[in-house]
Amino acid sequence: MLKDLSHDLRVSPTRDERTRQEFVASLRRHVLADMAASMRATYEQRVLPAFQRAHGRAPADGDEVHDAMQDERYFRFYSAIRYNAQEMVFRSVIPVVERNLEELRDRVMARPGHVALDPALRVPNNVTNIDVHLSPGSYHTEYQPDDVSPGAIYDNSINVFAFNQMGRDIDDIGHSFANYVRLAYPDFHPRSILDAGCTVGHNTLPWARTFPEAEVTGIDVSAGLVRYAAARAASFGLPVRFRQMNATKLDFPDATFDVVFSSMFLHELPLKDIRAFFREAFRVLRPGGLLLNMELPPNNRMQPYDGFYLDWDSYYNKEPWYKPFRDQDYPQLCTAAGFAPGNFVEAVVPRYTYTPEAGFEAHIRRGARFGSRTGRLGEEIEWYGFGAWK
Ligand SMILES: C[S@@+](CC[C@H](N)C(=O)[O-])C[C@H]1O[C@@H](n2cnc3c(N)ncnc32)[C@H](O)[C@@H]1O
Repeated sequence: MLKDLSHDLRVSPTRDERTRQEFVASLRRHVLADMAASMRATYEQRVLPAFQRAHGRAPADGDEVHDAMQDERYFRFYSAIRYNAQEMVFRSVIPVVERNLEELRDRVMARPGHVALDPALRVPNNVTNIDVHLSPGSYHTEYQPDDVSPGAIYDNSINVFAFNQMGRDIDDIGHSFANYVRLAYPDFHPRSILDAGCTVGHNTLPWARTFPEAEVTGIDVSAGLVRYAAARAASFGLPVRFRQMNATKLDFPDATFDVVFSSMFLHELPLKDIRAFFREAFRVLRPGGLLLNMELPPNNRMQPYDGFYLDWDSYYNKEPWYKPFRDQDYPQLCTAAGFAPGNFVEAVVPRYTYTPEAGFEAHIRRGARFGSRTGRLGEEIEWYGFGAWK
């Protein structure tokens, strides 16, 4: 059963709308868990032996697995169902948001929270040129003055998309990494924290909850997102600030933050923008500060089949920067921005809000171990993160 968001901006579907959303969430779970398992079996039983017969070796990387899978009917079936399920996520959510939009905008205006917009900011092409992950209008499209629909659509889509696997208020990633920092580095007490590409601030707010002494700021290029994010934070009574800003050109003085965090952000940026963001992160971090990015794990640490599986989105889900990012050497991305080579950090963590704290802590003490669940949404998931100390 899908859970309602717990804040004041949630929109309530009718019974029919909720039934439709439940169906889409179940379909997504079926594709990503059951069909994914069958597709892997098909690869191991048919595609891999055929490749070995033809080449005298196993595929060397995800690209070779992808080529070998192209003619496999189960891969095509899986891809068709998954593509349609992705479109159905938005079809099941957008009408609910549209029906509630006027009233939602009034609620946001009544309690706007802390938000600063920049009407002169040009939203970058990586957002405007495509409907990112098949989301109609991408992150930025506005349909009326002071529109909050991009925020409302995103906020109400994630539980359908992730079939309740991302936390009560789709905030498990934020909780997992804020608590990772708290438990792995008990002597580190950040006073100022930035979340770049924060969308609706769902993973920004856990930083304010985990480090209540810190000033927490979220930035995003989309006005319709930060407007919504600020009101969402206010409805939880959290004093987090949101600004419309481009992460590749941060409007903060040098040495402003102790933590620069991002989640699910880098894989939606062209490589040159990742590099620019990392240089900016290095600049705005104080000495001793931490850049930490929750992300998809790199191809060079995964088996060819697992790399192929994760890169599906790059080919079929309007995520063109996904694979170019995952093909990078992550430590090298950090050192190129100025971080010292020995200061690289990497973490694989279970989901904090689904795991007893002692188990979570024991897991992080074991260090970053990659497994079949790392970065991969299915019945469960482990989060991957990397970055560097300044
Ligand atoms: C996948 S979402 C991030 C999701 C969110 N951080 C989370 O934890 O789920 C990517 C976000 O990055 C924003 N974005 C894209 N390019 C950006 C840029 N150059 N600077 C700041 N935000 C950007 C998009 O508007 C979008 O909200």
